[in-house]
Amino acid sequence: MSYRPSVIAWICCFVIAFVLGALSLVSPEPSEKTVAVTGIALGGPFALTDQDGKNVTHATWDNHYLLVYFGFTHCPNICPLGLAKMAEALDALPQAQAKRIQPIFITLDPERDTPSELKEYVHAFHPRLIGLTGTPGQIESVKKAYRVYGQKQGTGADYMINHSGFTYLMAPSHAGKPGETLAVFAHETSAREMAQEIKNTLDR
Ligand code: NI
Repeated sequence: MSYRPSVIAWICCFVIAFVLGALSLVSPEPSEKTVAVTGIALGGPFALTDQDGKNVTHATWDNHYLLVYFGFTHCPNICPLGLAKMAEALDALPQAQAKRIQPIFITLDPERDTPSELKEYVHAFHPRLIGLTGTPGQIESVKKAYRVYGQKQGTGADYMINHSGFTYLMAPSHAGKPGETLAVFAHETSAREMAQEIKNTLDR
């Protein structure tokens, strides 16, 4: 009966696979797609211009958590996916919690993304999404604060910007000071996972 051990091994594999599968269904684990931010200085004060041409800072949306995404309106697919996901996560939250969050899109392309360009763009994703731009210097400093990668590729009018695709959840600003970074979501995080993590954070 030499086949016995391998049959038993196969059965064990199936049982283990089934148990692991069942466990992952019962308790989806979003943490591996949420970057831990403990101990990393991330985020900070910023001064930018909103989609209506108004000057804004990190303290403009007092009492609101900020959900921030960086990109550019000419982005072929990364930004549209990221922003669509952000919108879906917001809509999946209980309304009382969604209202406490200000979703923000910060452009990495201040040359082309004027306030009016941004206004039209963000509106396509979510009615509450606000687009921010600024001088090249202002954008550089916010990129640095949030450790955002954004590098221009190509020349002429059709250049692209290679960029990181993280979404940042920031605590409300307090007494003019920027709130701390509560979570950083990877591009691979699903809308459902993002909503769940935001809900857990706001429930705490
Ligand atoms: Ni993009």
